[in-house]
Amino acid sequence: MNSVESLPSGAMTPASERLSRPLDSIDVPHKKVSKICCIGAGYVGGPTCAVIAYKCPDVVVTIVDLNQARIDAWNSDNLPIYEPGLDEVVKAVRGKNLFFSTDVDTAIKEADLIFVSVNTPTKKSGVGKGFAADLGYVESATRHIAKVAESDKIVVEKSTVPCRTAQSMRKILESNGKPGARFDILSNPEFLAEGTAIRDLFAPDRVLIGSLDTVYGRAAAASLADVYANWVPRKQVITMNLWSSELSKLAANALLAQRISSINALSAICEATGADIDEVSYAVGLDSRIGPKFLKASVGFGGSCFQKDILNLVYLSESLHLPDVAEYWRQVVEMNESQKRRFTQHIISSLFNTLTGKRLAVLGFAFKKDTGDTRESAAITLIKYFRQEQAKIAIYDPKVEESQIWYDLAEPGVVDDLTALKKQVTITSSAYEAAQGADAIVICTEWDEFRDTKLDYEKLYATMNKPAFIFDGRLILNQKKLEKIGFKVECIGRSRLEESFE
Ligand code: UDX
Ligand code: UDX
Repeated sequence: MNSVESLPSGAMTPASERLSRPLDSIDVPHKKVSKICCIGAGYVGGPTCAVIAYKCPDVVVTIVDLNQARIDAWNSDNLPIYEPGLDEVVKAVRGKNLFFSTDVDTAIKEADLIFVSVNTPTKKSGVGKGFAADLGYVESATRHIAKVAESDKIVVEKSTVPCRTAQSMRKILESNGKPGARFDILSNPEFLAEGTAIRDLFAPDRVLIGSLDTVYGRAAAASLADVYANWVPRKQVITMNLWSSELSKLAANALLAQRISSINALSAICEATGADIDEVSYAVGLDSRIGPKFLKASVGFGGSCFQKDILNLVYLSESLHLPDVAEYWRQVVEMNESQKRRFTQHIISSLFNTLTGKRLAVLGFAFKKDTGDTRESAAITLIKYFRQEQAKIAIYDPKVEESQIWYDLAEPGVVDDLTALKKQVTITSSAYEAAQGADAIVICTEWDEFRDTKLDYEKLYATMNKPAFIFDGRLILNQKKLEKIGFKVECIGRSRLEESFE
């Protein structure tokens, strides 16, 4: 092992290389990582570090969390997260080089490298309320590292954070750390999407590592790059300055969400003109400059990241006195809210302008298929609107726990809301049960089992009130086929106008 100390200090990479420093440029003498600690056993920390353990048999990985129940679940046969392929990865390495624990101090002390993967929710009060990220958990994890660490550590931001958070972490570590313990901070944002997390981690488009452009910073980046090099081709590990790396994560999510809001805005035009959003999306996506992905119109994007990260970008822009930039990004979130309102309005007007006492079968509660995660799910907002219209709602989702649905739908702070909620809402164990006696089916999540090739729509139709409506908020159904059964099918981004010309 080469010694970092023997390097000349302050060597800067030439500006041309800094656009994305080639891996060679960080190929400076550096330490090998043999023990990793991950603080935060959530949707990001859990799968990411489980895959690192799986792909790096020489590295011992300990994932710690303050939440004992979560750690117990990670150590059980019933993992706290549903993610295709995760069970196999965890079972292959748990107890060998992957450990889950609440003993945060020991894991920090023993580690060479620490991932900070705690949650960074939108602030609920104070300055930046509703927009800025609450960095309280990142700060407390950082303070904890400073207090406990007895030797040098590479500290890696995995949580999505506002630009320049690494600076604050460095100040905390440097002013509270033990003498002799050196901390190098890296940004290594996670780009995995839920439902495909294991696939994304096994074959990422890129791994991004941000570091200070100092000898120590580059050496720390090289140590982390070596971990990924166990399975990711080196040219896909890109390194750059810390602030670019932090901002790239927010930028990627903002650009992805912006595509969905753009296609959803166009879906409104389609409904009013007779154009079909799937056809428009296909046509524009064939332009290689645009590309086909993330152009599926929907009832609105959800998930823990898109809204939070855009609001974060709005807040950042405002703090930098860039009101036009802030307004531009704010509109992406506003469009998403408008899509949910528009869809609800369409349901109300189709059902003869009233939902009072009508039964709506809501199929899907997760924010997308193949996950049990419900954070910011469009279904939550829609059901709140349906409740205001006095509808009766029956919900079915193949993976979301019943307790989670009650938690998401009850208004916090309203004492009797759960009782009122249970009078209006039922949770069923199948789509057939949900549709029994319903006036309409509302598809909120694109689960494969809701497709007309999987679900018996004739059977559903037979048990529903007539006319029986389907509102396809995910464009997964064959409209013509279902209309032959007798359904009135209404899809996002598609109107019946075209038929009137036939
Ligand atoms: C992640 C990222 O960290 C977040 O910034 C990103 O925007 C979305 O994905 P996620 O893994 O989804 O968050 O969050 P969550 O599933 O809530 O997991 C965070 C875990 O950290 C929780 O299990 C929580 O108990 C734990 N935690 C939190 C700690 O162990 N210590 C703390 O001080 C705070
Ligand atoms: C996202 C980013 O994709 C990922 O890189 C980042 O690390 C975390 O945030 P995630 O939120 O897990 O991942 O899922 P994603 O597949 O991006 O979907 C987000 C939302 O957009 C879902 O509600 C999904 O249904 C919706 N969506 C996606 C559309 O409505 N249309 C599309 O074409 C694609």
